[in-house]
Amino acid sequence: MAQTQGYSRLQITLHWVVAVLVVLQIVLHEGIADAYDIAEETGVYAMSAPVIGHIIGGALILLLACWRLILRHERGAPTPPAGEPEIFRRAGHAAHLALYGLLITLPVTGALAWGGRMEAAADAHVLLKNLLILLVFAHIGAVAVHQLVWKTGLIRRMMRAQD
Ligand code: HEM
Ligand code: HEM
Repeated sequence: MAQTQGYSRLQITLHWVVAVLVVLQIVLHEGIADAYDIAEETGVYAMSAPVIGHIIGGALILLLACWRLILRHERGAPTPPAGEPEIFRRAGHAAHLALYGLLITLPVTGALAWGGRMEAAADAHVLLKNLLILLVFAHIGAVAVHQLVWKTGLIRRMMRAQD
């Protein structure tokens, strides 16, 4: 992968747009969860505004995550800041890859559950959603440790573009 001094304006914008969409998907989940319960009981997969919103939000996340991966491949990501212990450097890299993996597998399992009527995919979707929530908390915790303990000013990377 290419190396760069920092994230571009586009990479930063996409990071925050995806973050907002992820929070919305998680907070506003009741409509799709209820609709899916009814679908399991009656076999009727009824479309409603919350269901359509969940599908569109999820599809957008999938598209934008793929775009981000292409940008990351072409343009690269900055090297981790000096001062971060090696084990955390590796963990951070693994966590970023896992986050990308979840941003792709969540919409796919969701589509297989709703469109493909696959119960196992719905179970996987719920499990992956829990994993995503855990990883997002770990991600935010890691940024806080960078700011407050190692004082690397990491958050600036997702605030100031290096185009
Ligand atoms: C809520 C959903 C979020 C998701 C899915 C997410 C995902 C990601 C991913 C995948 C990366 C790696 C980017 C790359 O190298 O290509 C990243 C980087 C980063 N994120 Fe998030 N993020 C989220 C929220 C946040 C929040 C709330 C903050 C601030 C507290 C934050 C701060 C950062 C920073 C500073 C980086 C750069 C880390 C580095 O260069 O080592 N993120 N995020
Ligand atoms: C990154 C994108 C997505 C996130 C973060 C997400 C998140 C969630 C959450 C939090 C729930 C509630 C789970 C629960 O009740 O504990 C849920 C349920 C569900 N989502 Fe998604 N979703 C995403 C994408 C999609 C897409 C694209 C579809 C369909 C095309 C979809 C279909 C479903 C279905 C059918 C359920 C009900 C599953 C069940 O209750 O067993 N999701 N989703």
